[in-house]
Amino acid sequence: MLLLLSQVISDFDMTLTKFAHKGKRVPTTHNILNNKLLIDDDSTVKMKELFNTYYPIEIDASLNPEEKLPYMVEWWTKVHDLLIQQRIRKDEMARAVRESNAVLREGCSAFFDCLAEQRVPLLIFSAGVGDILEEVIRQNHVFHPNVHIISNYMDFDHTGVLQAFKGQLIHSYNKRAGALSHGATLRELHGQPNVLLLGDSLGDLSMADGVSTAQNILTVGFLNDQVEERKESFLNSFDIVLLRDETMDVPNAILRFIVSSEISKVHREK
Ligand code: TMP
Ligand code: MG
Repeated sequence: MLLLLSQVISDFDMTLTKFAHKGKRVPTTHNILNNKLLIDDDSTVKMKELFNTYYPIEIDASLNPEEKLPYMVEWWTKVHDLLIQQRIRKDEMARAVRESNAVLREGCSAFFDCLAEQRVPLLIFSAGVGDILEEVIRQNHVFHPNVHIISNYMDFDHTGVLQAFKGQLIHSYNKRAGALSHGATLRELHGQPNVLLLGDSLGDLSMADGVSTAQNILTVGFLNDQVEERKESFLNSFDIVLLRDETMDVPNAILRFIVSSEISKVHREK
């Protein structure tokens, strides 16, 4: 298998997690923090208002990434400032994740488990909140040793209160810069030419830009929302586009195909 698939690079929110479950939107890592356990009532309203203002811009088919970029910086900056003001406590976060409706796509555990068994590195590249992302995959028992994460991580003071976010901000439309600046995380993945990339936004296509030796990239785009408006641009940009598909059936089928062709190749060579 290593000969054929050498790494997977995936977005997290609405790619490895579902877009909707039982008729309700699944919370992103930021939205898991929008919980009365962690922030006050005014702030929960404010965070929702910010979501309702900026998310439509994020997925607006009539704007290009350059036009969206300043709004994304504004959104992330306002939300992170609000979270810092609210003095979020590190020791409450696991409970907030447990009480949330965060849910991975159907078949996601099999996907994580197969990559771990085959020792294929999985880089999760998320503009969400890394600490929450880690807790979600830990609680789903899929935080295997082959998982690497690039995301926005929280910086807590010695009493466990949020005081800042670490490093350069990652939002949905600067993943290229993030990819290029994370040389250390990506170094282990260098020299690995065949990449499977999963995302739910055109901004996710630049996640492999830090892997200089990537020669063959198979890109899969989950088109969850504004489907008709964005279909053309997704079809022009991703190799495979999945429309309102809440499962990992297609990525799992790709993995199964690669594993079985590798096994039959080994048999043929015997
Ligand atoms: P991703 O890179 O893992 O998909 O995470 C980014 C998503 O998070 C992006 O689609 C926008 C979303 N988001 C929220 O849901 N709430 C927020 O407050 C912010 C800043 C982003
Ligand atoms: Mg996403």
